[in-house]
Amino acid sequence: MSLPSDFLWGFATAAYQIEGSTDVDGRGPSIWDTFCAIPGKIADGSSGVVACDSYKRTKEDIALLKELGAKCYRFSISWSRVIPLGGRNDPINQAGIDHYRQFVDDLLEAGITPFITLFHWDLPDALDKRYGGLLNKEEFTADFENYARLMFKSIPKCKHWITFNEPWCSAINGYNLGIFAPGHTSDRNKSPVGDSAREPWIVGHNILIAHGKAVKVYREEFKPTQGGEIGITLNGDATYPWDPEDPADIEACDRKIEFAISWFADPIYFGDYPASMRKQLGERLPTFTEEEVALVKGSNDFYGMNHYTANYIKHRKGTPPEDDFLGNLETLFYDKNGNCIGPETQSFWLRPNAQGFRNLLNWLSKRYNYPKIYVTENGTSLKGESDLPLEQALEDDFRCKYFHDYVHAMAKAVEEDGVNVKGYMAWSLLDNFEWADGYVTRFGVTYVDYKDNCKRYPKKSARQMKPLFDSLIKK
Ligand code: NOJ
Repeated sequence: MSLPSDFLWGFATAAYQIEGSTDVDGRGPSIWDTFCAIPGKIADGSSGVVACDSYKRTKEDIALLKELGAKCYRFSISWSRVIPLGGRNDPINQAGIDHYRQFVDDLLEAGITPFITLFHWDLPDALDKRYGGLLNKEEFTADFENYARLMFKSIPKCKHWITFNEPWCSAINGYNLGIFAPGHTSDRNKSPVGDSAREPWIVGHNILIAHGKAVKVYREEFKPTQGGEIGITLNGDATYPWDPEDPADIEACDRKIEFAISWFADPIYFGDYPASMRKQLGERLPTFTEEEVALVKGSNDFYGMNHYTANYIKHRKGTPPEDDFLGNLETLFYDKNGNCIGPETQSFWLRPNAQGFRNLLNWLSKRYNYPKIYVTENGTSLKGESDLPLEQALEDDFRCKYFHDYVHAMAKAVEEDGVNVKGYMAWSLLDNFEWADGYVTRFGVTYVDYKDNCKRYPKKSARQMKPLFDSLIKK
């Protein structure tokens, strides 16, 4: 079993989850600052105001990456640091730009390849207030294009760009479930077609157009001289039928992935939404104009894959409610015969199942004709980790096993199934602000002591990564 000699591995983070310093050097507020201030939205009542203090500790974080042997690092830019009000006619903030440019210089100096995510959910708040943020196609896509161009121009040394992180989460969590900023939910009693029956699909559509516009800018104005690559990062779980003998459950397994991944990947690789989505959502799912198809189709240089877990899938009979976003099915941790998908973690949605990773890599590769894949996130939380004394938390054998099994499953998919994975980034370098779950849920390979000035302590899993990859990558 082996991975190609040019295989990149490292760790991932996102701006709002680690940076803190939310009012330093001219940064403007994002929708997550606003959302965290609403009582009850974040489990422990926290926010990203301090987080891991990474904005001020870039040197320390890079030293840590180096110590762990990382070859690459994925991080995101806080849009409201570089354009505090976000818009194309708003002033830019040179201090913010200089910060990220310097960070990339320092990474390269340390021999670490940067992967930059432009949008990891923290939309400048001013844009949400000004015109409805992600819901406003014309304004949002033009402002995103402008922001993307500014970044490509300002950081020419970065060769790997990710436009959007997990648009599914922005659309569904932000505009249906209301558990992420900006927290829209449907008023299910108000009208037969509540907001959440429409808004997520509009947001998803607008993100695709914004992605397409940014890619066009990169390819036409920067790629010829800079020579880098650009893609989008999508999230999706692996699926197994609840009843392995029921054709309806087997079909629902594909439909689940289509509603999560193909929602975005089909337009990008084929130019239109999956038939299963059109069938269920009808005219509530937007349609692409010819011009939009031209923008979106073929707009990935690579596929960014975020992956964590698997589910048993049970087809649901009857007409789905209008705000259903799963594809008329149930997701379960036990199958018909009582088999369990995997052990519990601190995250209600996450149960390790490494075979599922291999299966999904194959599913994606077959459907999208073996694209180059970077695994841009993979990792796990641990049940009760925050309750443990430090010394015990550092012995994170559960996480070690997770990474061992998942990385081996990936290596098998590469070696035996011909899947084209070129890089892997573990989530996450640091324990950090886990969105609505606050700080209690830890995903880091490095323990962050929030009570003692965000001191960092690498866990066992942090040190395991280099030997794990050294044993798999061809010399
Ligand atoms: C995906 C997201 O991109 C990241 O921000 C989050 O912390 C992890 N999943 C874990 O839930």
